[in-house]
Amino acid sequence: MTAKWTPETWRAKPVEQAPAYPDRAKLAAAEARLRAFPPLVFAGEARRLTATLGEVAEGRGFMLQGGDCAESFAEFKADNIRDTFRVLLQMAVVLTFGAACPVVKVGRMAGQFAKPRSAATETVGGKELPSYRGDNINGIEFTEAARAPDPERMIQAYNQSAATLNLLRAFAQGGFADLHKVHRWNLDFVADSPLGERYEELADRLSETLDFMAACGLTAATTPQIRETEFFTSHEALLLPYEQALTRIDSLTGRWYDCSAHLLWIGDRTRDAGGAHVEFLRGVENPIGLKCGPTIEPDDLLRLIDVLNPQNVPGRLTLIARMGHDKVEAKLPPLIRAVRRAGAKVVWSCDPMHGNTVKSSNGYKTRPFDRILAEVRGFFAVHRAEGTHAGGVHVEMTGQDVTECIGGAQAITEQALADRYHTHCDPRLNAHQALELAFLVAEGLKHERQAGNGRRAAAVAS
Ligand code: PEP
Ligand code: CO
Repeated sequence: MTAKWTPETWRAKPVEQAPAYPDRAKLAAAEARLRAFPPLVFAGEARRLTATLGEVAEGRGFMLQGGDCAESFAEFKADNIRDTFRVLLQMAVVLTFGAACPVVKVGRMAGQFAKPRSAATETVGGKELPSYRGDNINGIEFTEAARAPDPERMIQAYNQSAATLNLLRAFAQGGFADLHKVHRWNLDFVADSPLGERYEELADRLSETLDFMAACGLTAATTPQIRETEFFTSHEALLLPYEQALTRIDSLTGRWYDCSAHLLWIGDRTRDAGGAHVEFLRGVENPIGLKCGPTIEPDDLLRLIDVLNPQNVPGRLTLIARMGHDKVEAKLPPLIRAVRRAGAKVVWSCDPMHGNTVKSSNGYKTRPFDRILAEVRGFFAVHRAEGTHAGGVHVEMTGQDVTECIGGAQAITEQALADRYHTHCDPRLNAHQALELAFLVAEGLKHERQAGNGRRAAAVAS
């Protein structure tokens, strides 16, 4: 028998990665305020995302999930939100039009603040302080005051998430995402590059197609999908006091939803089946993600699937593999086979970022872009070989012209990392690299379809 769940049953389980708040009364007060705030998303939207991801789980779509590693209070600007959103739109167009595949767009935005850390403290010049855990917990400056966890930061994170989500909704539905603007999404610093040109060619073809559709009577007036898009939000459900405070009963269904975002995921460090994070997310009805790193064994995964999706609802669970470029081809197939044998319906997504982090010779945490591409290629190759659907990618990216991952069409060198290294946590793809990755994914999807068509043709012939 499954134990009873409430939004606070997680509190009786071991909580990994929890900040040590010095003032419990202040924490309780902040939680009480959050409980009184309006939800950020509506349960019906989360249900809609589950249904859409259900299509992806059945092989009829692709999930594009991307945004900052960590949002920050300092980088909270309309331009940053707009530019990340527009690169996601560009990537989505490359996939939708380039690979003729419906794309579910999910931002790592409007709530992606809390960060798991490999060490609880950091020592600089003989001084030891708590590690930075994300702007909703403490500050990045290396001072005692900044590093002390402060519950008030949850309130600021909520407000920033609300404002970010408001702008994203406006962009998605207010005309910015109109497919007729496909040329204008190309950012100035990308437009003159070979990738920018490749994108322009695709945008030209899309414009022609829209003219053709208009001539057939399909216009933005008759077909809302042309002038607006659906955009969902997601973040790692790491800071459980915050997530619990935003968890509400949906008045329509009487079920619990975590209304801090549409989709929440469990990180690779907090996926213990007996731990607090799994306990919390098993009880909310949102679609959820589970990061699967190289240490997860097929049996662990099956157990987690059992706990997190006992009804086997397609779209409820997305498995985000983040193995590393050199491990994906060995580690992923046993997991895929176990999941298939169990008959579990899941979306398989690829996070090619977190297994490919290295330290540059000049001391930056970076990711070689060729390894990122290699992991994506490996992911597609494995799914082709297994006859399963490569259902998504999960990337850390920004619309800014940063120099955080080495390589790519601009051939960013280790020396160049110093130029524009702005991330608050992990190195992100810049707009060029994100677009290049999207073209690679589109190729992968086309091959998958051809392989599928081949198999179907063979079945008909036999
Ligand atoms: C992340 O997505 O930023 C992250 C910390 O990932 P993982 O849990 O896979 O290490
Ligand atoms: Co990260």
